[in-house]
Amino acid sequence: MEQAKNLKKMMQPPEDSAIRVITVTSAKGGVGKSSVAVNLAIALSRRGKRPLIVDTDFGLANIDVMLGVKPKYDLYNVIKDRTDIREAVVSGLYGVQFISGGSGIEELLTLGDHDLQRIIRNLMCLDDIADCILFDTGAGINENILRLICASHETLLVTTPEPTSFMDAYALVKIVGKRELKPSLRLVVNRAETEKEAEAAIDGFVRIAGKYTGMTIDPLGYILRDDNMVRAVKLQVPLLISYPNSRAAYNFDRLAANFLQSPVTDVPGMRGFIKRLFGKTGEGDA
Ligand SMILES: Nc1ncnc2c1ncn2[C@@H]1O[C@H](COP(=O)(O)OP(=O)(O)O)[C@@H](O)[C@H]1O
Ligand SMILES: [Mg+2]
Repeated sequence: MEQAKNLKKMMQPPEDSAIRVITVTSAKGGVGKSSVAVNLAIALSRRGKRPLIVDTDFGLANIDVMLGVKPKYDLYNVIKDRTDIREAVVSGLYGVQFISGGSGIEELLTLGDHDLQRIIRNLMCLDDIADCILFDTGAGINENILRLICASHETLLVTTPEPTSFMDAYALVKIVGKRELKPSLRLVVNRAETEKEAEAAIDGFVRIAGKYTGMTIDPLGYILRDDNMVRAVKLQVPLLISYPNSRAAYNFDRLAANFLQSPVTDVPGMRGFIKRLFGKTGEGDA
């Protein structure tokens, strides 16, 4: 019965779903994207949201490791084997839901429009279990990622205060700033030593990016450097659960509060997202 209902929903996608689409990205790897995606999602769920993390870092099974799960199905199965996307949703993990990208599958990085549409339209049907989707992206910037960044209701740009990470993030802003569809960027500075350093980094970035690219960047917040982050990864239990009283855990809670307080998006909804992603309504052969 349940399966038949799901199938029907897939065949007739909702007119629109109010899901908020958030992409977590950076110009460089190892700056804390997956850490931000996982812990922000947990903090959001504590504040009453129903987040779904979608790992699009197909090369490495990042989030699987962080959450300590081995999903039975992943996006690869959804695309190649036509597995029902609901079968790929892992739920009951610290209040977050999660879909794995699968690992070691290069070809998924350069998905064609047909497959991409299939995934997105499948996700659109999940509005009964999720109200926001967090796409965790990999290190590389390719055309698919750039499109995702520009189409999302908001994109969290993660950088550390180190000049190399900073300059790379700035270069990314320059690239997306030249595209026809301008993204809604929100800055997250991760691994700052002190609050002062974090605030100076945020102010500097927003000012310089604004001056030289014309892009307005919303300063979302910061996470301080905290060795418990690394311990949490080793334990395979997210920081918010394993070290709830750590300083980074406190920062994540602030981040979630800021996130919910100041939605910069105009109209949430998957239809607008699909339109921006594919340059049309997304009707058709998915
Ligand atoms: N605020 C932080 N303080 C200390 N270590 C951190 C912090 N954020 C992330 N890390 C560590 O840095 C490493 C890379 O983080 P990860 O989230 O996997 O980055 P990305 O997804 O951008 O590649 C992990 O070992 C993680 O524990
Ligand atoms: Mg990652």
